[in-house]
Amino acid sequence: MTNGGAVTEVPAGLEGVVVAHTAISDVDGTAGRLTYRGRDIEEVVSGFAWEDLVPWLAGERATALHGPAARDIDGPMAAMVRVVLDEGRDVNSDDWQDAYAFIRRVPPAVASALVGARRSDGDEEGLTIAGRYLARLTGRRPTALEAAALNAYWVMAAEHSLNASTFAVRIAASTGAGLPLALAAGVAVLAGPLHGGAPTDVLDLLDEARRHPDDLAAWIDAKLDRRERLPGFGHRVYRALDPRARALKTWYAQLAREREAVAFAARVEEAVLRALRARHPERVLATNVEYYAGVVLDALGIPRMWCPPTFACARLAGWTAHYYEQRRQNRLIRPLARYDPDPAP
Ligand code: ACO
Repeated sequence: MTNGGAVTEVPAGLEGVVVAHTAISDVDGTAGRLTYRGRDIEEVVSGFAWEDLVPWLAGERATALHGPAARDIDGPMAAMVRVVLDEGRDVNSDDWQDAYAFIRRVPPAVASALVGARRSDGDEEGLTIAGRYLARLTGRRPTALEAAALNAYWVMAAEHSLNASTFAVRIAASTGAGLPLALAAGVAVLAGPLHGGAPTDVLDLLDEARRHPDDLAAWIDAKLDRRERLPGFGHRVYRALDPRARALKTWYAQLAREREAVAFAARVEEAVLRALRARHPERVLATNVEYYAGVVLDALGIPRMWCPPTFACARLAGWTAHYYEQRRQNRLIRPLARYDPDPAP
């Protein structure tokens, strides 16, 4: 995977690679010395009850957070973590047939958990796993087109190289953790709004856009003046139109109940792209997969708060593949942090 910029290859397991600066502890492996916040471990051990250590180690700045607020522990992604752990209770990760049966159980069980523990309401005969997921979420048998659309989205969202959640899965695999726990780590990381929340945000953006049908360009400019990031656009790696966005746009055109909605989404897309081109002539900021993923999931009748677990179900495929690849070529992933008593806030 490349975005045309410089690429650095580092040793397996990130051995000897510094990936963060930290004021919390320092390990001097050569001298055999460990310090917590600059104090030798021998001194710390004699002076602290563990419960007092927690706030001291976290430091004064522990609660001074910037950026998006962490999502709710009772939210849909937390529910999915519980399903993965429940369904994975007796799985033997070294037995592929057992592991594969587990993966197939998870999406329908996630849908049941989201709607409130209803296992199955009706006829799921002949449906794919995506179709069964949709049936349980919406409470009715999906049409062939709907089931095929969700399946297409899931195939497109199944894998995307070493993104943050996949990296988390590989880290868990590198320690020898079982598949269910490694997948739970992936779901937890995908729960962050910078990773798995964009389709929901796209739908909010379109709602807001509907209040500005006649002054779209000015409304977008005002947002960009406030340095807002517009969900569904830009990508850390793609410097061209994401091929998945193009495909999902076609699915949306087939699914949407109103022609007007399709035209409006395309109009907002065009207006945003025009504004981004004007502000960033030096780089391509194109439509990413999440823009049309949001409207496709909406057209399928999936409530927007359930977009992240729907995405996570798709990604179980890629996470599982990475889990086994990591296990086969394993080197414990253990990078370094450089000790810095005053890292940037
Ligand atoms: N809206 C407005 N401005 C943007 C956007 C956007 N969506 N994307 C990039 N830019 C601007 C940045 O503000 C920055 O401008 P500046 O230099 O004046 O500060 C410049 O373009 C930097 O762009 P990149 O370096 O290409 O972006 P970066 O790698 O930092 O961020 C990211 C990538 C997080 C995806 C960003 O494009 C973004 O926030 N997009 C919106 C959220 C979103 O759609 N996320 C889903 C991504 S796809 C996925 O995860 C499956």
